[in-house]
Parts: sequence; structure tokens; C-alpha cells
Amino acid sequence: MAPSADHANPGLSAERLARIRSLPTAELHLHIEGTLEPDMVFELAERNGVSVPFESLEDLSSRYRFHDLQSFLNLYYECMSVLRTRDDFRALGERYLQRAHEQGVRHVEIFFDAQAHTVRGVEAEDVLDGLLDALRAAEQKGITGGLILSFLRDRPVQEAMDTLESLAHRTDDLLAVGLDSAEVGYPPELFVPVFARAKELGLHRVSHAGEEGPPSYVWDALDLLGAERIDHGVRALEDPELIDRLRRERVPLTVCPFSNVRLAVVSDLAQHPIAELLDQGILATVNSDDPAYFGGHLGDNLAGLVEAFGLHDETLERLARNSVEASFASERRKAELNALIDHWVESVAATR
Ligand code: HPA
Ligand code: ZN
Repeated sequence: MAPSADHANPGLSAERLARIRSLPTAELHLHIEGTLEPDMVFELAERNGVSVPFESLEDLSSRYRFHDLQSFLNLYYECMSVLRTRDDFRALGERYLQRAHEQGVRHVEIFFDAQAHTVRGVEAEDVLDGLLDALRAAEQKGITGGLILSFLRDRPVQEAMDTLESLAHRTDDLLAVGLDSAEVGYPPELFVPVFARAKELGLHRVSHAGEEGPPSYVWDALDLLGAERIDHGVRALEDPELIDRLRRERVPLTVCPFSNVRLAVVSDLAQHPIAELLDQGILATVNSDDPAYFGGHLGDNLAGLVEAFGLHDETLERLARNSVEASFASERRKAELNALIDHWVESVAATR
């Protein structure tokens, strides 16, 4: 079965679920291509005359079973081949922002995999402009955000550099660079020159590390790439010295619980290390990663954790405050987001 957000948290009452989903948060780990839902795959395939190797919605839905990161990436890249035009990226962004808004997200920093599109002949600027169209429209609804150009670490380093240079005149429209795709065997050190150039261009830097890769990749993302946040980072728990550093330097981890379960990084939600990370004083945040593939959006992930761990409202508040602190939003926007969280805390207290 394809994941369905409506059925993500069957164990909670409708009121509790609504309350969790109304918590104002910042989403910091979200791949826009991972929000492409099955019906849109078929709609865009038809509109753009792209053939896809799936016979029907049922056939596609039956393939949402993964045993590791690579088994997911294979389907993820296959599905996104239907995205071709600026309009497609605008529509994709709009649908995600609508869903995210319904689940409390009020600020979002969105990854896009430019190379996955340019290798198919799509212009990087069409991707960028379509997503910016969607973000500008969402501002009317009270969501702010920006875009993170994410390099595919399993493709040539020179291709990443060329992609960055091709958008060097658009750095005002970019927030940061990131590093994603197959992790093991593609260590951060490969991308030192690309991240150095991104720094020169005035961009923030983040990196996936410690999802399937070892703690040494987290050290190297920090020390060699200058990463300001670590995406995933759950394997940092294997290295007490690293945990100590992350805590002392308040390095944020953008943790994705549903993703970690679906990709077998952890065996089930009840075994998820988020509680341990919080106990250790780590600036951990909760995010959805690829919500169309992993069973839910940010609010669903929070609700899943409430079900699995019985998280208290104070912990939900802390996760929301962490997401604001870890974001690249302006100080002024951070203050606004914290005021929204204050309001949520007051309204929750009033219903007790
Ligand atoms: N890890 C690495 N690359 C990705 C992911 C992820 O979780 N999602 C989309 N691309
Ligand atoms: Zn990711």
C-alpha cells in the first residue's frame, strides 16, 4: 500500500491529532521530489508524454516497500522523471506547501535535487523558478521559506560544481547547499571544493550524514564541509565524543523518524533514537524527509512519536522551538515563529 497521511496515526483521538498537527514548526529536512504523490506521477506523465514503468496506481503503490536507502532512491529517481517544466515544479511545491500548512509548518527550507533534473535536459532555473513561484504564493498563507540546492553525492563532483556555477548568479534565490543521495562510499571529503565555493558565494551549508554512513562522516561534514546542520545524524549516537561536540556547539540534527523506519535505519518507531538524542541535550528537530514515500508529513511524524513514546506537550514544544533555532530564518521571523508557539502552548494549557 502507498502511504496515506490520513492513516498514519490510527491510535490517537481526532482531538489529540488535531492539536499535534496545529503545533507551529519549521520543516528543515524536506526533499521536494519526495513529496510527489502517486496520482501526480501519472498526471504529469500523461501531460508531458513521459512513459513510466508502472502499469497503474495500484502497481506503483505496491512498490512503496523499501529495505534500505538505495531501494528507495531507485523509485524516487524513477518517479521524478515526470517533472519537466516550471509549472510542474510550481504545482509540486504548491501541493506540498498546502499539506505542510495543514500540519502546522510555518517555515520551510526545501531541498531540491537540481542534477536529477538537469541530466534529463530540464533547466535548473525552471526548477528554481517553479519552486520560488510556489513559495511566494505560500507567503500569503503565512509560510516563509527558502531553497537548498542539494548535490547528489553519488554523481561526479565536477557535475556538482558545474551545477553550482550555473546558479551562481541566482544566489539571492538560494538559502544553502546540501548533500544527499547514496551515502556509504561517498564521504564528505569528496565535496570539499564545492562547499568551499558555496561558502564564497555566501550560502549556508548543510549535509546529510550519519543516516547509513558512519559517525566519521558527521565529523567530516562539520570539519571539512563546514556544515551548519547535519541531516539525519542518528548514527552520531555511536560516538560519545561526537555527541559531546554536537551538544556543546549546538549543532542541529534534522531527524526524520518515519524515514528512518521505512528505510530500516531503525527497526520500529518505538526504537527510534530521537528520545535519546533529546535526553542527551542535542538540538534535534523532527522532519518528514520524503512524505509521499514514508507515510506522512511533519505533524504525522510528531503524532507517531507521541504514540510510540507518549511524548508530553512540553517535548513537542521543545521540538518546535528547536526547529526555529535550527532554521536559517531571520531573527525577526524566528521571534514571530516563537510567538506562534507561545500561543499554541497557551491554548493547550487552556484545554487541560
Ligand atoms: N537520504 C539521502 N538522500 C535522499 C534522502 C535521504 O533520506 N531523501 C531523498 N534523497
Ligand atoms: Zn533527506
